[in-house]
Amino acid sequence: MALLEWKAEFSVGNASLDHEHQLMIQQINALYEQLRDPVDSAIVEVVLGDIHASISAHFALEERLMRTAHYVEYEQHKEDHEDLLDQIHDLINSFYRDPEGGRKQLKLQLSDWFGHHFATFDARLHRQLG
Ligand SMILES: [Fe+2]
Ligand SMILES: [Fe+2]
Repeated sequence: MALLEWKAEFSVGNASLDHEHQLMIQQINALYEQLRDPVDSAIVEVVLGDIHASISAHFALEERLMRTAHYVEYEQHKEDHEDLLDQIHDLINSFYRDPEGGRKQLKLQLSDWFGHHFATFDARLHRQLG
């Protein structure tokens, strides 16, 4: 079973953001599939790099849309994006240092890492961005 599953109720009412959220769920699920033992660190490193790139681009788009809409929770939301980027950096670095330990850490934290922000900050964007 997939780690994360997209549901219609996750829609924030903006087609580009919904599309990117779906792609990120797919990428995170694909990474989770790769976290088997023994881990193929070359593949996981590539997938982690791709996820980091998609997430950074996604946060930039989401922040731009929030600014355009004068969204009241912009500052807090952006701060949480920055925390998430720091956390993914840490996860990537741990994986480089120690693939087996990093694999276990990713397996435990991957779902919460994205899922929590998505279910709270992003869910509150619903119908706020026009
Ligand atoms: Fe967000
Ligand atoms: Fe988002």
